[in-house]
Amino acid sequence: MKHFMFFLVSLLSLEASHPTSYNMCISCHGKDGKNTAFGYSDVIAGWPVEKTEQVLHRYRNGGYRGNMRDFMVCITAPLTQKDLQEIAHALSLK
Ligand code: HEC
Repeated sequence: MKHFMFFLVSLLSLEASHPTSYNMCISCHGKDGKNTAFGYSDVIAGWPVEKTEQVLHRYRNGGYRGNMRDFMVCITAPLTQKDLQEIAHALSLK
């Protein structure tokens, strides 16, 4: 029973750090989106929703920008259109 409870708690905490939220971007873009990822990307905090959404969409299709885009192509590949919208919205508020 104890183990089962532990299993449940682990599942719940996995859910809390939902992988399709802005949390998965923090390591490179910073908690508030104000870091330049590897000193290379622009600061992405406060971008208008449509701009971020469009850029993420283009990364997902492999068609946006620079030398380091492979990172963003991998990161955006599994995300749905809805995920991109939610993340773009969260970033616009930072
Ligand atoms: C492994 C590090 C890493 C992670 C994690 C990461 N990014 Fe990036 N991001 C980069 C790099 C590097 C670039 C510059 C890529 C290029 O050459 O176009 C970039 C570029 C961007 C840009 C375009 C900025 C510009 O300069 O035009 C946006 C928007 C962006 N990332 C959003 C996100 C979002 C949203 C997430 C989370 C879903 C995320 N990134 C996760 C490394 C990362």
